[in-house]
Amino acid sequence: MKDFVYENHVKVCFGTGGPEKYLPKLLPEECRRVMLTYGGHSLKRSGLYDRLVKILRETGKEIVEFSGIMPNPTLEKVREGARLAREQQVDFILAAGGGSVLDCSKALAAQARTEEDIWEMEFCRQITAREWIPMGAVLTAAGTGSEMNNEAVITNEAEHRKESGYGCHADFVIMDPSLTLTLPPQNAMSCAFDSLSHCMETYFGKPDENILSDDMNEAVMRSIIRNMRKMKEDPEDVNVRGELMWASAMAETGILKLGKTTDFQGHQIEHQLGAYTDCSHGLGLAVILPVMYRHIWAGCPSRFARFALRVMGVPEEGRTEAELAAAGIRALEEFIREMELPLRFSEMGLDVSSYCHEIARTAHLSRGCARQLTADEMEEILRECE
Ligand code: NZQ
Ligand code: ZN
Repeated sequence: MKDFVYENHVKVCFGTGGPEKYLPKLLPEECRRVMLTYGGHSLKRSGLYDRLVKILRETGKEIVEFSGIMPNPTLEKVREGARLAREQQVDFILAAGGGSVLDCSKALAAQARTEEDIWEMEFCRQITAREWIPMGAVLTAAGTGSEMNNEAVITNEAEHRKESGYGCHADFVIMDPSLTLTLPPQNAMSCAFDSLSHCMETYFGKPDENILSDDMNEAVMRSIIRNMRKMKEDPEDVNVRGELMWASAMAETGILKLGKTTDFQGHQIEHQLGAYTDCSHGLGLAVILPVMYRHIWAGCPSRFARFALRVMGVPEEGRTEAELAAAGIRALEEFIREMELPLRFSEMGLDVSSYCHEIARTAHLSRGCARQLTADEMEEILRECE
């Protein structure tokens, strides 16, 4: 197990009716002007917008709105939000949405408090922001884990690069599972698959001997798989939504990564795919990961065999390690199909043939992976995903 320092400052308030129950007490009294950040139409359609505005008004806050944050938020949007926050002297940000709204809000919160260009600072040089406008979040789509970590993933459209920056985090997050009921079914599934992918990309990192983080990870993965099946059966089950919401936070709060160097090569490829195609993050991962695992499993067959046995429920039946590893990847693929998620880019309506070369050469190489891919292999994987 590697040495580690762990710290998490995000207060979690979980439960149905969360905004009314928790928000009035969580909003800092000294903050007068609150920037309410959100995405497209879903917030107003679901009625959450009216509920949040009511709470903000009743607690005596002035509201500055910043809407239109798109899925895969852009650097331009971050800059626009930071300008508005400065002009309006916003002293608190309330982000209401999924990973995209939260990430854009984190980045703009930091940009508003520094003269340095946030792209150069956080996203290129990986300098952690020390100052930002304090923020809280009301989660409406659970999967990225952005709610409990200090990461923001932003797309620089001009440079065709989708990168992670680190620093800003929310002071609190309201996790009300009922808020996710309005998500279109495929969005809800792709969000949950994103959580599962965070677990897998951590699990297939180094070291590959058994440590506590891996045992916990297996429990989280089994829980996500079980609850994705339940969500498919009954999309209205709030309890299942709650299980998936908490699993999303668990998968990316850093707790499963303690003592490990993570892999995340699948994410590196998917992020660049997103930079070129603006595709859904979770769907992209569903296509890429099984194909990628066929390329890397031989780097740690025992780990993939263990995944097959303990996570995918493959029976041992005298199989060799290699046979188990292959059966585990097959079972993952079958699960993706069962959840009606895509296994090829063509099923997502994507034609990436002309971008494969660039995507593979701009995706970052990982450090802790079962086997590090070369740019040529990444391109091969992308072509197999078509
Ligand atoms: O824009 P609106 O109208 O709100 O619609 C959104 C959006 O179109 C909709 N939506 C959200 N909540 C809803 C809802 N529709 C109905 N009812 C609700 N309750 O869902 C669509 C997708 O939302 P988005 O926030 O983009 O989804 P997600 O949470 O999957 O976030 C994806 C982004 O997060 C990044 C991804 O790369 C991508 O940019 N990630 C962030 C990470 C992090 N910060 O730690 C890690 C992840 O690996 C990931 O990279
Ligand atoms: Zn992800």
